[in-house]
Amino acid sequence: MSILVTGGAGYIGSHTLIELINQGYKNIISVDNYSNSDESTYARVKEITGVSVKKYAIDLTDKKSCTRLFEEEKIESIIHFAAFKSVPESVENPLAYYHNNLGSLVNILDCCREYSCNQLIFSSSCSVYGNSKELPVTEETVLSKPESPYAQTKFFGEQILMDAVKAYSNLRVIILRYFNPVGAHKTGLNGEPASETPNNLVPYITQTAAGLKEQLQIFGGNYNTKDGTCIRDYIHVSDIADAHILALSYLSKMDKQIDILNLGTGNGVSVLEVVKSFEKVNNLSLNYAIVDRRDGDVEAVYANNSKAIKLLGWYPKYGLEEMMKSAWKWQLHLAENN
Ligand code: NAD
Ligand code: WQD
Repeated sequence: MSILVTGGAGYIGSHTLIELINQGYKNIISVDNYSNSDESTYARVKEITGVSVKKYAIDLTDKKSCTRLFEEEKIESIIHFAAFKSVPESVENPLAYYHNNLGSLVNILDCCREYSCNQLIFSSSCSVYGNSKELPVTEETVLSKPESPYAQTKFFGEQILMDAVKAYSNLRVIILRYFNPVGAHKTGLNGEPASETPNNLVPYITQTAAGLKEQLQIFGGNYNTKDGTCIRDYIHVSDIADAHILALSYLSKMDKQIDILNLGTGNGVSVLEVVKSFEKVNNLSLNYAIVDRRDGDVEAVYANNSKAIKLLGWYPKYGLEEMMKSAWKWQLHLAENN
């Protein structure tokens, strides 16, 4: 029986492959269409673990390919990462996001039903909380209006899963709402694939420090927060990966069909605090300027993570400094290998 990791060539998927291998899982299959990654990820996973993961190049929106995969492999559980994830891109091209993120989920659920695969972990996002008044957000916090088509795909994805478990009594699902995953593997050999136009804060910081971008723009300095900049819950990608391994065990003993867990550190950290931490641990000075607010940004969001701690026995191991150190190590690795 195998574990299927969709989007295994991507940022969080590849770190999860590494943790699965490190925890002794043997029959791991990764599926990706390389729309936001490439096959070189698997060489990095092998460099770190010594293991070549069995891989398929499949677009999960193609039902025939999904079916062929389930025909060929006996899949017991699925960790479903594969999705598009850029908020601004989703505003420009919403249909591509609905098609990809929801189409692939529906195909996978269809195959689960047809091939009696009953365990699924779904990558959701803190973006489903929208602009929440209640902080920290718990899994019970009423969801506010999603701020983007991307966030809508996560909201609808969760709804689809809630309907699916009602209809299919054998299906067990864990929805993991990640906050802001950052950092890289502690070896510095695997991290978020480089993008010429990073949307997220930490890749922008590392590219600015590396001289690939001239200046980091900090979006908004007049929020009602400790230093005027936005507050987020940054969490190390390897801690996120760890939680998936624990969630796999929890799935097999869960006494309900579906559960939702926040994956964050529980610490609200400002943009300026991230910048200062990066400068300090890497002994660098960053060129940055505070500019106008970015459309669609929420002022503050951070997790109450006590449910994941209680139910999974999970605890985030890495602090902000380790996130910043590993992110920089990965940027240096990218520079050496280009
Ligand atoms: P990523 O883009 O690095 O990885 C996603 C992988 O899925 C990529 O390798 C991509 O090529 C693949 N993929 C996309 N569509 C596919 C399809 N139709 N068929 C097959 N493969 C497909 O993203 P990530 O940061 O690793 O995110 C993983 C998951 O976590 C996503 O669902 C994302 O929405 C969610 N998430 C990410 C963050 C974040 O900030 N990184 C935060 C919250 C939630
Ligand atoms: C973090 C903070 C920016 C870039 C998004 C998605 C969320 C999740 C994580 C997938 C904000 C500020 C950023 C820059 C800046 N992804 N910033 N200058 O927007 O919190 O969350 O990614 O699910 O769903 O919405 O992440 O890294 O873009 O921004 O000042 O160049 O950094 O304003 O306060 P965000 P981010």
